[in-house]
Amino acid sequence: MSAIKEANRKYFDAITDSYDSKPFFIKVNQQVTEHLHANLDWVGVPFVNNASSSNDDGSVRLLDYACGTGFMSRVFGPYVTVTRGIDVSPGMVQTYNSRATSSSLPSSTIHAIEGDLLDKTDPNPTPLSTPEWHDFDLVTTGFAFHHFEDVVYAAQRLKERLRPGGVLLISDFLEGGDLKADDNGQPIEGSEGSWSGHVHHHHGHGHGHGHGHGHGHHHHHEKEGKDEKEKNPQGNNNDDDPTANVRAEMSASVVTPHFTLEHVRKFFEEAGFVDVDVTTMKERVYMEFAGMKLWRTVLFARGRKPLNEGEKAEL
Ligand SMILES: C[S@@+](CC[C@H](N)C(=O)[O-])C[C@H]1O[C@@H](n2cnc3c(N)ncnc32)[C@H](O)[C@@H]1O
Repeated sequence: MSAIKEANRKYFDAITDSYDSKPFFIKVNQQVTEHLHANLDWVGVPFVNNASSSNDDGSVRLLDYACGTGFMSRVFGPYVTVTRGIDVSPGMVQTYNSRATSSSLPSSTIHAIEGDLLDKTDPNPTPLSTPEWHDFDLVTTGFAFHHFEDVVYAAQRLKERLRPGGVLLISDFLEGGDLKADDNGQPIEGSEGSWSGHVHHHHGHGHGHGHGHGHGHHHHHEKEGKDEKEKNPQGNNNDDDPTANVRAEMSASVVTPHFTLEHVRKFFEEAGFVDVDVTTMKERVYMEFAGMKLWRTVLFARGRKPLNEGEKAEL
């Protein structure tokens, strides 16, 4: 298992219970839900229960990849007929399935399993090789691309799970789109930047803040998770700061804390998607990360798997 995968499994297993129950998180999820419900047509899938899309056979299949406790599944649940989830964290998968069960939904309608499509040493895991795990109309990946080591590879692997014409939709955080918040959670004017929540106790590289340089280059950030471990070897036993442990584990799970719109468009296109569009949510969302308070800008991207190779060649 790769270090990043192990770090994700460990971190998300540890926080599963508290993951989405915090008041700020409920609010973020509400804002994102409202945005996506208002932009169903932009997603570009012939949903059910959506006045403006016609769906003749009445079947829409959703794969929620890196599903966590099922946020994206809940957003799109009313508009699809079958939902499948995959996550590398067994704790997340368990919570996902028990919530479905307690909502009286049968596993034929919604069900998740533990799995990883991004492990290059095991590109076609047996449990995910059956028809049940293919030919989806929509694949969503909510706030998880920042945990992936190779985003082009990830987008390619998810494209394989779509039917021709199917759509990949992701959400993540915009580079330079953060504002710091004061102790009361109020945004601090002039603090625009990229505040990843990574705090360097032992940084030696001259800027005394959490990557808030506000520049537009994503390349610097791509190996941030790994740099963090090197720069902050004592991160796990800082007695002065009770949040240091959680923060160090969170940092270890993150590869690309923020994306530029151009970067996302590029990796969708490199993975072979067409009709690619990348947008942001107008209102920032308020989040707390292991002691840090931030307002962040959410980005959404969608791209369509070509109907045939000819369509791809045209672009
Ligand atoms: C920030 S959470 C987002 C969860 C959910 N999609 C949401 O929007 O609330 C990221 C999730 O990605 C999962 N994850 C990380 N790496 C993964 C991988 N390689 N394959 C599948 N899931 C992964 C984690 O276990 C975690 O549940």
